[in-house]
Amino acid sequence: MDDLRRQLAALVAEAKAAGRFAELEAAWRELQSSPAAAPAATVPMRYGLVGDSPKMRALFELIGKVAPSDVSVLILGETGTGKELVARALHEQSKRAKKPFMAENCAAVPENLLESELFGHVRGAFTGAAGDRQGHFTAANGGTVFLDEIGDMPLAMQAKLLRVLQEGEVRPVGSNKTHKVDVRVVAATNKDLAVMCKQGTFREDLWFRLNVVSLQLPALRERKGDVAHLAHFFLGRCNVETGRQVGLSAAALQVLEAQRWPGNVRELENVLRRASVFAKDEILPEDLGLKLGG
Ligand SMILES: Nc1ncnc2c1ncn2[C@@H]1O[C@H](COP(=O)(O)OP(=O)(O)O)[C@@H](O)[C@H]1O
Ligand SMILES: [Mg+2]
Repeated sequence: MDDLRRQLAALVAEAKAAGRFAELEAAWRELQSSPAAAPAATVPMRYGLVGDSPKMRALFELIGKVAPSDVSVLILGETGTGKELVARALHEQSKRAKKPFMAENCAAVPENLLESELFGHVRGAFTGAAGDRQGHFTAANGGTVFLDEIGDMPLAMQAKLLRVLQEGEVRPVGSNKTHKVDVRVVAATNKDLAVMCKQGTFREDLWFRLNVVSLQLPALRERKGDVAHLAHFFLGRCNVETGRQVGLSAAALQVLEAQRWPGNVRELENVLRRASVFAKDEILPEDLGLKLGG
């Protein structure tokens, strides 16, 4: 049992590192048949995403249709709804799956570094640029670049990105040479880009370019049946990590299902992780640290 657990942990880590979600899914199936994950034995999952609600089924169908085409995809949805997982699924299900998937959170990087992160720089381009550095667009050649929180990209950077998308070539910061790149761009945001375009804080031409197809991720509160599936999934994962076999009581599940989940799946995951630490054999409502309907 411990051997199996170790093997699986290694498999999962490896698949995650390489962005190989098909393998992660296979590992998960194997895991489901192990006694430690007994409560999770019936968790429905596709493309590495847990879910069986009508909205998630519709999303799975769209992912299956859109992924193999090479079009730009804009993923919309509240925070914690799984936008990054969907971006990875699109990559995994595409012809580019064997090439790199490079992700950048446009809100997390200071404006002056974002250009270098995406397009690279040459030695001496700015203070601290001790050597040449490849940007994500070059590193991902043949694969996918995921631009998370694209709504937070500064206007000047938006203009540069648009040029790269139109011309299919990048120029590293401080270089006077451009080179061709072949990447598919998947972007995500929880902002209303239409409103931002009207306000002049997002470029309409870039929006059109990114938004060839858009996928709207449902909030967790619109996916009622999925709360139970996700809860069992996350609990199964905690159990594998801790080597314990904590269960979920019906009363606790009822409390989970009554929540509004403003932080969506990420919040549910965190609540279960914490509860599984405090619970004895079974998670009870008081272990959740939540109020009914809160
Ligand atoms: N359908 C899902 N099945 C399993 N895990 C999920 C699902 N949706 C989200 N998660 C998990 O929830 C967390 C937040 O997902 P993420 O893709 O980062 O959300 P977002 O980018 O929309 O904020 C991650 O740990 C992710 O693995
Ligand atoms: Mg995200």
